[in-house]
Parts: sequence; structure tokens; C-alpha cells
Amino acid sequence: MPKLPPPPIPPALKPPPKRPEEGNGKLTPLDTAAEAGTSVVNWVDERTSLSGAVRWMMFRKVPKGTNWFYTLGSATMFAFLSQAITGVFLAMYYRPDVSGGAYESIRYVTNDVFLGSFVRGMHKWGASVMVVLVFLHMGRTFFFGAYKYPRELNWVIGVVLLILTMTMSFTGYLLPFDERAYWATIVGVNINGTGPLIGPYLSDFLRAGPEFGATTLSRFYAIHMMLVPGLIAALIGAHLYLVAKLGTTAPPWLKAKQDPELKKTEA
Ligand code: HEM
Repeated sequence: MPKLPPPPIPPALKPPPKRPEEGNGKLTPLDTAAEAGTSVVNWVDERTSLSGAVRWMMFRKVPKGTNWFYTLGSATMFAFLSQAITGVFLAMYYRPDVSGGAYESIRYVTNDVFLGSFVRGMHKWGASVMVVLVFLHMGRTFFFGAYKYPRELNWVIGVVLLILTMTMSFTGYLLPFDERAYWATIVGVNINGTGPLIGPYLSDFLRAGPEFGATTLSRFYAIHMMLVPGLIAALIGAHLYLVAKLGTTAPPWLKAKQDPELKKTEA
């Protein structure tokens, strides 16, 4: 009687293919680099389980009809990151000194530092870009009805982010300390002073006293480079957490399919 061939080995029992360093081909420097990268990521993940959080954040389902308008929030975030990076380089040279030092340090960055005018230009134009993007993003969420239940809290966080973005523009405008910056800020602080109830306190806080003086500039600088960016970064974290938790809204022109059974019970 002919002998039957042995049954095939189930895939789970098959020996794993040889890894490059076990003689399966030559180990290239790229293989070594990839192995090193994987080992580092695995080492961190084994100790923190962070990959779960990253997967939760990045691999989400998005509604049908998601389109380019949904990128405006991320675009605003990248504008903020660009402002943060260029701002760090500007802070390396800036001096908040009212007796000519502030103006001189900005002149120095613009005319003498390698790529200084480019970085300053990016920061200056980037501020306008961020303001335009934040308004477009707010318009998108408004017209798509994304402020409704259960996303009201994210809308409120957004409103605070909008106010903080405007605060960044207002406080940054004074820093070059030229005539335009000085007088525009006097006007802005006076407008704040006309606000109901907290107006006068707010303008005193911004001026660091009843008069515009030397500490006004350092106060604006501290608000501009530490207080408000810190708050914006923290609130963006909360904003994105809620986006990942609640998911994004479907475009309003997409009607959910009605379950005929459900319709019967509604009637
Ligand atoms: C620094 C400013 C801001 C950043 C970086 C930011 C970032 C984002 C990102 C990345 C998303 C998810 C993707 C998207 O829908 O675009 C989002 C969603 C959202 N944002 Fe913002 N945002 C900012 C300001 C605002 C403002 C000013 C508002 C409204 C007043 C707002 C309200 C919302 C709402 C309601 C959602 C949920 C959208 C949905 O469910 O479809 N955000 N934001």
C-alpha cells in the first residue's frame, strides 16, 4: 500500500523565518538602524504601554464625507507649533528693555543674525496665519453644528483658545517697541479698560500699574512667551483628547439612515 504523505505543519508550528543577523542575507546598516529603532520603541512601550494611547489617538474612525475642512484644526495646531519654534529662536536674542534695548535687539536679529529676518518674518506672518486659521476652523465647527451635544465643552475650550490666540497677537505686537507698537498698545490697553466690571483691573494688570512703564514691556513679554503659550498647549491637549474621545461630527448634508423598525416605534 502506498504511504500517505505526512500532513502539512500548521503555520503556527512552523519555525519562524531567520532574522537577518541569523545568516538570512547580509545585515545592512539600514537593517541595524531599523532593529535599533524597534528595540528602543519596544523598550519604552514595555515600561509605559504608551503605544495603546497612541493607537487610541491616531487610529480613529472618521465619519463618511470627512473633507478638507476637517484639516483646519490641525492646520491651526501646526501654525501654533511653528510660532512656538520660531519664538524660541527669537527669544534667544530679544531683550525686554524699554530704554532702546528691545528695539535694538530686534534690529540686530533682522539685520545681523544669520537667517534672522527669515525667522522673524515667519513668526510675524505666522501670527496672522494662525489667527485666520483659527477663525476658519471655528467657522467650520459652527456651520457643521459641531458645537452641539455632546461637544459643547470642546466648543467652550475652543472659545478660550480663540481668546488666548488673540492675546498672543496683542502682547506680541508691543515687543519690537517702536512707535507703532507703543501707541497701538496704549490704544489696546485703554480699550480693555472700558470693559464692564473687570475692564479697569484688566488694563492695570496689563500695564503693571496705573501708568505705562518699564515693567509693562516685561509683563507683556512674560505673558507672550510663557503664560499664554503654556495655557494654549495645555488646552490643545484637552481639545484633542475630547476630539479623540467623542469623534468628529459628520457633515450636516449627510443624513443618518433611518432604521424602519425604529421609525415604527417613534410613530
Ligand atoms: C489654537 C486653536 C485651536 C486648535 C489648535 C484646534 C484644533 C482642533 C483639531 C485638531 C480638531 C479636530 C479636527 C478638526 O475638526 O479640525 C478640532 C476640533 C474641534 N474644534 Fe478646535 N482648535 C482650535 C480652536 C477652536 C475654536 C476657536 C473653536 C470654537 C470656538 C473650536 C472648536 C472645535 C470643535 C467644536 C471641534 C470638534 C469638531 C467636530 O466634532 O467635528 N476649536 N480642533
